Amino acid sequence: MSNNMNMMSAVQEPSIEHILLREMSHRMNNELSSAIGVIAVAAARSENDEARATLIAVQNQLQNYAGVHHSLAMPEYDTAIELNAYLHRLCKAISRSKLEGCGIELSLSLYPVRMSSGRCWLLGMIVFELVTNAARHAFSGRSGAIHLELLTNGKLVECRVTDNGRSNTEVMPGCGLKIVEALARHLSGTVSVHSGNGGTTSIVLIPEGVWSGRRTDYDIDITRSGN
Ligand SMILES: Nc1ncnc2c1ncn2[C@@H]1O[C@H](COP(=O)(O)OP(=O)(O)O)[C@@H](O)[C@H]1O
Ligand SMILES: [Mg+2]
Repeated sequence: MSNNMNMMSAVQEPSIEHILLREMSHRMNNELSSAIGVIAVAAARSENDEARATLIAVQNQLQNYAGVHHSLAMPEYDTAIELNAYLHRLCKAISRSKLEGCGIELSLSLYPVRMSSGRCWLLGMIVFELVTNAARHAFSGRSGAIHLELLTNGKLVECRVTDNGRSNTEVMPGCGLKIVEALARHLSGTVSVHSGNGGTTSIVLIPEGVWSGRRTDYDIDITRSGN
């Protein structure tokens, strides 16, 4: 065994869950890249304008999915990061992949909060499901608005996803909301979903854990911002 390999074995081995998650993520990346490549070649070879435009649209959409997948990848290192910047990047990717094409606006009000990258990642998955739910269930193919708000009082972080769409008075949790509840519990937090005439608001409350910074980039409309 080489010296490098010996050094690696001295570092703590990742758990089997982490290894399997990395393997799945790696495989998904490769398969998405391969599908994007095949479609790009087909588009380049197509002599029919309509077929080429459709193939390019499919290629772009797969690239958007890859962008969301990349934003939700398990972090390499457990370090403190800016949760607000992380959610901003994630929401930009979600917006490109499933909102812009349907006329759904996503606006953000993000109070600066620093948290461990692992906790940011889990909260990111919660936000992904709540925004996806609004896009899938609230608007029935019509345009609408979703707002994500991140607040802190120095102890608890509050994350709200609000939409102005149609809602049932009682939301019955399916697979997605059960995963959201399990992720919130894992973060020692809670999640509640409130539906009414004006739409749905989901509120996630989790302990902050690390550090909260200054209030800077508070109101951002990511469907309008260029970055
Ligand atoms: N923002 C929302 N607006 C309207 N209905 C919603 C919203 N979020 C959730 N729901 C309702 O709650 C149900 C359960 O959501 P979920 O557990 O994520 O399962 P799924 O999205 O797979 O149906 C949805 O099927 C839908 O009826
Ligand atoms: Mg869902």
